[in-house]
This record gives sequence, structure tokens and C-alpha cells, in this order.
Amino acid sequence: MRKYLIAGNWKMFKTISETVEFCSEFKKVYEQKRDDVDVAICAPFTQLNVLIENLKGTGILIGAQNVHFKEEGAFTGEVSVEMLKELGVDCCIVGHSERRQYFNETDSTVNLKLKALLERSDIIPILCVGEDLAEREEGRHLQVVRNQIDAAFIDVGRKDAKRVVIAYEPIWAIGTGRTATSSQADEMCSIIRTRLKNIYDASVANSVTVQYGGSVKPENSTDIMSKNNIDGALVGGASLEAEKFIKIVEF
Ligand code: PGA
Repeated sequence: MRKYLIAGNWKMFKTISETVEFCSEFKKVYEQKRDDVDVAICAPFTQLNVLIENLKGTGILIGAQNVHFKEEGAFTGEVSVEMLKELGVDCCIVGHSERRQYFNETDSTVNLKLKALLERSDIIPILCVGEDLAEREEGRHLQVVRNQIDAAFIDVGRKDAKRVVIAYEPIWAIGTGRTATSSQADEMCSIIRTRLKNIYDASVANSVTVQYGGSVKPENSTDIMSKNNIDGALVGGASLEAEKFIKIVEF
């Protein structure tokens, strides 16, 4: 049985004091009510330790939003898998569309990062895929996402593949308030699963967690999560407020 994973993606939001405040509000209201839902918060590097310290004992997983694939070296501004491991990070977003768009992340660096996490740590990679508006309007969205999946999993072994969480995030739905319909989201999550079945086998396809992301909020989370192929959500804007995020995780 797959569990749901609902992960907040804070992007470049919140200072240390804002993070401490979030944690105290969150802890006042949050109690883990269901054991079929894991909850994570993926934050800027400077907030990871603050979250780890302040959310101790809550069972909330803490995640980074990026990682470099090399173990160490002259890569100014980058952070390695080993550095995240030492901090005690549980998961890490890989290949978010904002990184692909603004920071030259390509299918091949996404593949290297995915392999670095899987081969050198127990950190759960949250691999983001998704088409842009033009690709959807031209009817190419299914192929675009299939290609992203194929490229990301090159040279990833079957056992490692099972540990990957995939977030389907149509770019046109991110931060726009325009959510994919739950059927559109479910269709793509099912396509992703079928692709994994083709690359590996049914057991991999059935074990991988596939999330939807893009303008998820308390008002639409129940509908999205009710779909067969959707195992959770990657939540941007609505994860910044403790009360809203708790409503989503309690869908
Ligand atoms: P959003 O962002 O929920 O603000 O649309 C989602 C994401 O980028 O992960």
C-alpha cells in the first residue's frame, strides 16, 4: 500500500524568525491524525536546521529544494548530498520547473542529481516533471512528461527507482491559481506510472509515490487526493501558512 506524501515547497520564502513562528503555530494545531499520510516541508538551505530543531517529535519530514551531484569541489554556492545527510535531511526536490527555467537545470543534471541522492544517501528524491502551457495546448504534454521520466531514470536501478517520489507539476498551474482538473492530474499520474511499468515492471510502477503540484489549496485538496493515481501533493504558496497547510494535509 502506498502512503500519501504531502510536501510543502517554501521556495525562497521565510527568514529564520518567520520559520520559528511558523513552527510554533504549526505545533499548536497539528496532530498526526492519519497514518496513511506523510508530511514534509522543503525549505531554503538556511532554514533546514531551524525546521529540524523546531519540529522535532512531530514526525514531519524536512527537505531541501536542490542539491549538487558532486561530492565536493570548487562549485561556489552549491550544497552536496553529504552536507544534507549530515544535517539529517529526509527528502530533496530535484528538477523543479523553476530550477529548469531560471537555473539551467537540464534533464541530464536532473538525472545526475537523482542518482547522487539514491546512490549516496537515504534521502528521498522528489523528482518534478511537467509540461508548459504551449506543450499542453499543442497536445504534446503526455510525450513531454514521458521524455522527462525516461531521461531522469537513465541508469537508475530498479530498487532505487522504488524510492523516488515523482511530482507532476504542470508549469501553467504553478503559482497561477489555475489548477489542473483532478482528472487531468490523474491522467498524467497514470501515464507516469505506465511509463515506470515500461521501463521497469509493475512492482516499481505500483510502489512509486506520484504527487500532483500546482495551486493546491484547502479547497481542492480533497478532490485531488481522491484520485486513484495521485498519492499526495507538492504545495507551494499554500504551505507558507501553518493553518492552510494543516487543512491540506488533513484533506
Ligand atoms: P504552488 O507551487 O502551489 O504555489 O502553485 C507548487 C510548486 O511549485 O511546487
